[in-house]
Amino acid sequence: MAYNLLKGKRGIITGALDANSIAWKVAEKAYEEGATLVLTNAPIAMRMGEINKLAEKTKSEIIPADATSVDELTNLFTKSQEVLGGKIDFVLHSIGMSVNIRKKIPYTESNYDYFMKGIDVSAMSFHKMLAVARKLDAINEWGSVVALTYMAAQRTYPFYTDMADIKAMLESIARSFGYHYALKKHVRVNTVSQSPTRTTAGSGVKGFEGFITYAEKMSPLGNATGEDCANYCVTLFSDLTRYVTMQNLFHDGGFSFTGVTQSVIDQMEK
Ligand SMILES: NC(=O)c1ccc[n+]([C@@H]2O[C@H](COP(=O)([O-])OP(=O)(O)OC[C@H]3O[C@@H](n4cnc5c(N)ncnc54)[C@H](O)[C@@H]3O)[C@@H](O)[C@H]2O)c1
Repeated sequence: MAYNLLKGKRGIITGALDANSIAWKVAEKAYEEGATLVLTNAPIAMRMGEINKLAEKTKSEIIPADATSVDELTNLFTKSQEVLGGKIDFVLHSIGMSVNIRKKIPYTESNYDYFMKGIDVSAMSFHKMLAVARKLDAINEWGSVVALTYMAAQRTYPFYTDMADIKAMLESIARSFGYHYALKKHVRVNTVSQSPTRTTAGSGVKGFEGFITYAEKMSPLGNATGEDCANYCVTLFSDLTRYVTMQNLFHDGGFSFTGVTQSVIDQMEK
């Protein structure tokens, strides 16, 4: 069921790699809610061709951009305004990658070149995106920018290694940039801290399957799905949340504020 929450709004959605991607679901929901979209991803991800299916389904244009490149982001925001016929109302940052995780390197032995790459791709890209949009004055008054994050920014999950520190930086950028962008143009900037979700990036984390089951048992409402995350993002893009900014918003079925559940205690006593 759609509510036309984004009727007439223009959005840029990053990070839709395949149908499991959270960004893919956000694009579908935003389209259902009446938005017109530009989809973007790193040129290397384009070669897999999956994103074309999403573009067809959501009648969107694709503009490739490596999110670490200010030039490519400048092109993305400039061309998006041309294609969509005006300034942008919302942006989803759904980009995450850690070479240390991919190569299964323990946190205490992190490779610093990989660490820097992870920071650039997964956190600094958010700053670059916001800075480019602000410089070009590409986002409308009361526009909304959302980045996806994980609770390892607040609590230690050993398998999340350097991405924990990188997500802490991402969330900090939302606060810092949110302040400046609110003053300049009432643009909102928030992060959504999502439950573990089976996607390409998510499943790259060692021990992910065991952890997703644990999180399910530790969440009074159960793990939030990618579809539900997309619904939540849509509300944040809509005019119904105009005074929400600089926040890290947990979308996790209650996991973040649960000390323990009966189901986990029962398991301990077996
Ligand atoms: N899956 C989970 O459990 C989970 C939980 C909380 C938060 N998140 C976050 O959600 C976001 C999306 O991840 P996902 O789980 O949907 O996985 P995904 O693998 O589908 O998406 C990650 C995306 O980042 C893109 N990307 C990588 N390098 C890039 C670059 N240089 N420029 C532009 N794009 C680039 C990839 O092509 C891919 O589309 C990430 O920030 C992730 O950390 C995921």
